[in-house]
Amino acid sequence: MTPARPVRPADPATPGLHHVTLVARDALKTIEFYRDVLGLAVVKRTVNFDEPSSYHLYFGVDGGRPGTLLTFFEWPRVPRGGFGVGGVHHVALSVPDRTALLRWKRRLDDHHIHVRGPYDRGYFTSIYFVDPDGQILELATEGPGYAIDEPADRLGEQIVEPPLERLSGHRDEDAIAAEMHPEPVRQVDAEMAITGLHHVSGITDDIERADAFLTGTLGLRRVKRTLNQDDGRTAHWFWAAYDGREVAPASSFSLFHWPGSDYRARPGFGQTHHVAFRVPDRETQLAWRERILELGVPVTHVQERKYFRSIYFRMHDGMLLELATDGPGFDVDEPLDRLGSALQLPGWLEPRRAEIERSLRALP
Ligand SMILES: [Fe+2]
Ligand SMILES: [Fe+2]
Repeated sequence: MTPARPVRPADPATPGLHHVTLVARDALKTIEFYRDVLGLAVVKRTVNFDEPSSYHLYFGVDGGRPGTLLTFFEWPRVPRGGFGVGGVHHVALSVPDRTALLRWKRRLDDHHIHVRGPYDRGYFTSIYFVDPDGQILELATEGPGYAIDEPADRLGEQIVEPPLERLSGHRDEDAIAAEMHPEPVRQVDAEMAITGLHHVSGITDDIERADAFLTGTLGLRRVKRTLNQDDGRTAHWFWAAYDGREVAPASSFSLFHWPGSDYRARPGFGQTHHVAFRVPDRETQLAWRERILELGVPVTHVQERKYFRSIYFRMHDGMLLELATDGPGFDVDEPLDRLGSALQLPGWLEPRRAEIERSLRALP
């Protein structure tokens, strides 16, 4: 029999991440990196609906399945962004296993992209690098998961200290840096392909308050309380869509705790703009909006994003979150086998297509 566990009222609960939106300086460089190096598909070329003279590009897997999406606003004139309290530190994408990870390290190295790792994080193994704008990215293995150091049905209850050999200062950094797949990796094949988002990690100044917020607004559940393995003085907690038995893939969100820090995230290129979580449908979204308001959290009206519908709200530290519907999806305006092949505009911008196309640079 499963031991009794206090069930928290968390209905509705998000099934996981929907997309992450970042700010890019140059849409061409973004396509060359995310499509041509990382092997993600462009699933939509459109413009920022609130600022139609700039691109909004969507990358994803399986026709842009929620939980696989990275989207980019091209804002060439904003300053460089940076991580800090209220912002995202890094975005992690999922790969099948350690063999795939090592092949990625070789492929990125061959493209003159500096890679750190592979690091054994316990719950997964990871490599780290930055995109053309400086956003820190991680590729992480799907397993073994959070149940390696506490029972699968009691995740997040205790504070778990990582073993010493995983902490910075105790690792054999030279051996880690030297580990390299022997052959060049010119093609991204199915065995190594990125399968979607793995987790998003941000920074907060009040982790207890963040815990209550993520639980109350999103129905996420805490699945790990541990330390940052690269800075053992910093708490690192994880939340996810967790039913008390399993943690859903593409649902993890983690925060580093910087109590009292006034080192704030700076918006700009190379920094994440917001993190979106999934809501199954419109009706649930409306009910959810009421629930967030009842918690005293300001939330926007429903915004029509053509491929999904969105509401936005902020954590106490300023982190911008979104709840986006799973549908209608990216095939509302072009067939699945041609996603991302032509510029798509929402109906109200179609009359301005010629002017908008003139203001945008042609992309491959
Ligand atoms: Fe991470
Ligand atoms: Fe979004």
